[in-house]
Amino acid sequence: MNDRRTERLLLRRWRNDDRAPFAAMNADPAVMEHFPSMYDRHGSDALVYRFEAHFDAHGFGFWAVEAPGVSPFVGFVGLSIPSFEAHFTPAVEVGWRLARAHWGHGYASEAARAATGFGFDELALDEIVSFAVPANFRSRRVMVRLGMTHDPADDFDHPGQPEGSAYRRHVLYRLARPADGRSPPAA
Ligand SMILES: CC(C)(COP(=O)(O)OP(=O)(O)OC[C@H]1O[C@@H](n2cnc3c(N)ncnc32)[C@H](O)[C@@H]1OP(=O)(O)O)[C@@H](O)C(=O)NCCC(=O)NCCS
Repeated sequence: MNDRRTERLLLRRWRNDDRAPFAAMNADPAVMEHFPSMYDRHGSDALVYRFEAHFDAHGFGFWAVEAPGVSPFVGFVGLSIPSFEAHFTPAVEVGWRLARAHWGHGYASEAARAATGFGFDELALDEIVSFAVPANFRSRRVMVRLGMTHDPADDFDHPGQPEGSAYRRHVLYRLARPADGRSPPAA
């Protein structure tokens, strides 16, 4: 999959230089508030390896996001196939994680619009989903900005989390392929 440009961002494959700032954000309690655990450097690098393997296997994945003139690495945004089974799988999800310093600029929504546009226009997907723990309101706001909708009947227990875990229950948001077959241009 080729790199993508948006008004302010470059969505690209991962570089070795991304690993240190990615590990720093994965060890930031603010960024990881809604995840069951943080990652050490080894775990963070393993995640990059998985993201790149996903690109190689499927031709799409979670891009490293660069904000030219601002920062060479602000986080990741992109499309991925969830590796667990649930009532809505198989599916393609849109997901995001930005370093704390880069929240509040609209970067996640801008990159995610490019990702969903790519999914509908070039991958010809019929639907893209996204999910989060209910308390992750920042992430849910991105979903709403993208035009995704939430039906409480879709909420699910993440099979990767043990029963009783505060991170097990998830809300699911869905975005259907635009009726005219084309997504709006990325903002
Ligand atoms: C979820 C996450 C990516 C959201 O980041 P974000 O910066 O709040 O999201 P957006 O890119 O949509 O930015 C919207 C914010 O930028 C503001 N903004 C500023 N300039 C803007 C611009 N030019 N265009 C659009 N929005 C702009 C908006 O007002 C909004 O702020 P608000 O939420 O305080 O009202 C971020 O909080 C994060 O990485 N969290 C940790 C990881 C995580 O939980 N990931 C999701 C797991 S399900």
